[in-house]
Amino acid sequence: MNINGTPWRTIWLEADNRTVGIIDQTKLPHHFEIVRLVTADDAALAIRDMLVRGAPLIGAAAAWGVFLGLLADSSDAALEAVCAKLIQARPTAVNLRWAVERMKTVLAPLPSQERPDAARSEAAAICEEDVRVNEAIGEHGLRLIEEQYRQKGRPINVLTHCNAGWLATVDWGTALAPIFKAQQAGIPLHVWVDETRPRNQGAHLTAWELAAAGIDHHLIADNSGGHLMRQGQVDLCIVGTDRTTASGDVCNKIGTYLKALAAADNGVPFYVALPASTIDWTLDDGMAIPIEERAEEEVLFVAGLAEDGSVQRVRIAPEQTRAANPAFDVTPARLVTGLITECGICKASKKGLLGLFP
Ligand code: MRU
Repeated sequence: MNINGTPWRTIWLEADNRTVGIIDQTKLPHHFEIVRLVTADDAALAIRDMLVRGAPLIGAAAAWGVFLGLLADSSDAALEAVCAKLIQARPTAVNLRWAVERMKTVLAPLPSQERPDAARSEAAAICEEDVRVNEAIGEHGLRLIEEQYRQKGRPINVLTHCNAGWLATVDWGTALAPIFKAQQAGIPLHVWVDETRPRNQGAHLTAWELAAAGIDHHLIADNSGGHLMRQGQVDLCIVGTDRTTASGDVCNKIGTYLKALAAADNGVPFYVALPASTIDWTLDDGMAIPIEERAEEEVLFVAGLAEDGSVQRVRIAPEQTRAANPAFDVTPARLVTGLITECGICKASKKGLLGLFP
């Protein structure tokens, strides 16, 4: 996507062919900074500390992490160790495991001296595929927005949660891809952006993406969605997912479930956009998905731009207050109107998913 007229992706191989560039998402929206990953440890830390985040991008970063690890040591033992380390960086998004296992399947049978070059090609292929797949999700999701526009003949209001835009992928995004496509198609639309406490990915990242693209949007407190739905001010919800079970349960950023409940109560269509790499075919029940527990500081403090232009972190609760910080929740398939994938839109059910991915 473009930033001030220049096309960017979220991750790339640098010209030296030995380091990987990323946009440091912990610095957005106030600063745009590039970080260079040199080792597999750098990649694992970038995933753990959320310099890169979003399920598809975590997978791409892990693939490049395997490549960086093999540049240093391409033995069998090193391949095993680097894959194990990267898979542990974050527990919920299944794309991480998917990408690392794909790398391992390609690399393990090769003689060790051939592995670094093969790893470079495979990581690049994962990134190129991610871009194509997300653009296809955008095309399929566009049909839903077009349909709403045909029926209503006025700007379409879409509510989204967290950031499932291009920053969460290599490019295009999942939930925001249909929105970018709708803008290109000239459909008037407006986006309600959940701020997404505790880390505020909506306020920091989704709002930044939409502002950069010139798409009309309002930031809303996480508690506002239900009220807006009752008032008829939301035509469609589209969110992303970090792991979708074979039966269509969806695990996404904490707070997604509450939006799905409100949407069901108000007859608002609730769609989830995902690439096939986010489907965990080994699980049927979403409650079996491991939910990441993050540091309580993320809840107890907020960061923002102070009037003097510096970014500051302030405590919002008493010193003695402890916080709990589950990072994801599970929305059962029965609350999901449909899944938007690169192969089309299906019901959130085993039958629906198998129809698209036999
Ligand atoms: O903790 P994050 O920021 O990595 O969580 C990201 C999300 O929950 C996204 O909605 C999800 O990864 C889908 S992104 C295409």
